[in-house]
Amino acid sequence: MRILGIETSCDETAASVVTRDEGGKPQLLSNVVLSQIDEHSQFGGVVPEIAARAHLSAMDYIIKQALAQADTDLSQIDGIGVTSGPGLVGGLMVGLMTTKALSASRNIPYLGINHLEGHALTARLTDDVAYPYLLLLVSGGHSQIIRVDGLGNYLRLATTIDDAVGEAFDKTAKLLGLGFPGGPNVEKAAWTGDQNRFKFPMPLRGQDTLNMSFSGLKTAIRTQAQKLVPLQEQDIADLCASMQKTVAEILANRCERAMAQFCDIDTLVVAGGVASNSEIRQRLESLCMQNSYKLIAPPLKLCTDNAAMIAWAALERFEQGERSDMDLAPRSRWPLDNATQSVMGSGRKGVKV
Ligand code: KG4
Ligand code: ZN
Repeated sequence: MRILGIETSCDETAASVVTRDEGGKPQLLSNVVLSQIDEHSQFGGVVPEIAARAHLSAMDYIIKQALAQADTDLSQIDGIGVTSGPGLVGGLMVGLMTTKALSASRNIPYLGINHLEGHALTARLTDDVAYPYLLLLVSGGHSQIIRVDGLGNYLRLATTIDDAVGEAFDKTAKLLGLGFPGGPNVEKAAWTGDQNRFKFPMPLRGQDTLNMSFSGLKTAIRTQAQKLVPLQEQDIADLCASMQKTVAEILANRCERAMAQFCDIDTLVVAGGVASNSEIRQRLESLCMQNSYKLIAPPLKLCTDNAAMIAWAALERFEQGERSDMDLAPRSRWPLDNATQSVMGSGRKGVKV
């Protein structure tokens, strides 16, 4: 099967083509991502209406690019996977309506895909990882630890009780005047910083829960920054490095406790935009070494939002004979694990201004 993927849930317009080779190994044929950073940066966060309009004007071109780079055309596409939630509804509608139009006019089956499932299965596209595995999903809207037992079989073990970890990076960057998007800018500033200069709190540590909390970290950074005004470049670097180290420590601590719960798993997969942070990757790498685990961290361009992960999740579902109806509607909220109760305030998609 040759699958076209489409992603428009937040501020990246993306299209991609994936397939399997003759031996059944996953193959990424193209991966085109257009970021809307310039459109949103002056507002310090993603503005939903601007995002939807930008998706609309870029959509056709991005799909054509993805098909061209894969050296294919619509007549050779066997199915389309499109993100139908969770996310900003205006953007989701652009992707979904485009997909329905292509599906109806070209008679190609399509599937609405959960964006989080895309992140969750990326490691199967890049590294052919077998089920079951532990997943640390850390993005702008989510911070979760999930046991992945199979396609559609997800057990949420932990979530944030307030901000998502990506939000913590974005808010720290905003506070320190580093601009949007925050994560990469905090990481860059941290390169020249002293990660031991400030000691920030690690909420919930030691308590009988795997859940995480990041809103106190943001407050602690603000309080520390206010004491240092006027902030020198070195202060900012030190604050970023200390913040990054604290986040890496919190994540590693929670993953270690999750690992201890199972003896039938030996793989930790990290996914989502924050998974591109090298300090966090290194901390998880050493955690896995200590616990005889394998760490699978997808390449950076497949950690942040992309359509390859959506195409891949769709391919796995098409292989099971699934397809969506024309009356499918976008969903702003759509937990991966429906059975586990949701936690109030557990992250959100997009930083609405
Ligand atoms: O997965 P993603 O691209 O979009 C969502 O589904 O949310 O994640 C975006 C988030 C943003 O909060 C961004 O600041 C963060 O990932 N991020 C990073 C890095 N690159 C992106 N956080 C820390 N370090 C990075 N290098
Ligand atoms: Zn994402």
